[in-house]
Amino acid sequence: MLTILAIESSCDDTSAAVLRDGILLSNVTASQSVHEKYGGVVPELASRAHQQNIVPVVDTALKEAGVRREEISAIAVTLGPGLLGSLLVGVSFAKGMALSLGIPLVEVNHLQGHVLAHFVRTADDKRPVPPYPFLCLLVSGGNSQIIRVNAPSDMEILGQTIDDAAGEALDKCAKIMGLGYPGGPIIDRLARQGNANAYSFAKPTIKGLDYSFSGLKTSFLYFLRDQLETDPNFINTYQNDLAASFERTVVEILMQKLDRAVRETGIRHIALSGGVSANTALRQAFIDRQERKGWTVYIPPFAYTTDNAAMIAQAGYYKAQSNDFCPLDKPAFARTTI
Ligand code: KG4
Repeated sequence: MLTILAIESSCDDTSAAVLRDGILLSNVTASQSVHEKYGGVVPELASRAHQQNIVPVVDTALKEAGVRREEISAIAVTLGPGLLGSLLVGVSFAKGMALSLGIPLVEVNHLQGHVLAHFVRTADDKRPVPPYPFLCLLVSGGNSQIIRVNAPSDMEILGQTIDDAAGEALDKCAKIMGLGYPGGPIIDRLARQGNANAYSFAKPTIKGLDYSFSGLKTSFLYFLRDQLETDPNFINTYQNDLAASFERTVVEILMQKLDRAVRETGIRHIALSGGVSANTALRQAFIDRQERKGWTVYIPPFAYTTDNAAMIAQAGYYKAQSNDFCPLDKPAFARTTI
């Protein structure tokens, strides 16, 4: 019996999960509302909140799973990439616990975790898993990547953003319009009532499969500045159309490169990961391609798309199965590719 306790603390969610023999038994996440009033994650506040949350979150995950500490075979933890102060809380806790229980530590790369979220299954969850190789569009507040997944431990980044991430672009759009944080879900909600073709904004011309979102943000900013000169109420009056048009542009940018990756690789099993995968228009674009282009698409439940320890447990489970453990003196890291 292989029982994994997983810990994720790379950004502003403290999460713990328990997975036994490939089946998820619990997944508990404490989110941090303290950042809302600042319009973005404040690293020092995130680290402090992780310190407060980590013990009750791990405790609850074990209780919900009905697993005692002595039954844990290995502890999987996100070593990076992420906010270093945040990572240190989870990593130090995981190391201390592994040491005290005399069990091995498993290092998980946060981005690989997001991809392997597609394999997380509870006992009664019979969704099909993607066959290898498949492509994964990973879109979150910090990442926009097209990844070719050959095996759990063999992933290749085909393209990625050279500046802002897709979620960051949506968050900034909301911020410019004076809406709340995180902006993605707010833009999504407003866009449902707006005309997506009301306005057009600049689209990048980046070579290959890479992305760029900073030009779109600037184009949006300049457009609003011009409109506000003649109509100070422009944003309030047209916020639904603005949200819908901005969101459409983000989705078109994402899908244009993904379409190209599908053409170039010939792979038609396509997965969607990361917090932005909750977006209605992006999900619809995936479903459209399933119907029109014969793709088989994989969109996991929302609980496994935002930062969560279930995906870390899944990634850790594969590694623990092949005795791929991590020395206790290996440090957390802020940046990396897969
Ligand atoms: O993966 P995630 O939870 O963690 C980070 O990378 O921080 O992704 C968060 C991102 C944020 O930018 C948020 O605005 C975006 O996901 N997001 C959405 C939606 N829900 C969350 N973006 C668009 N539409 C949504 N419904």
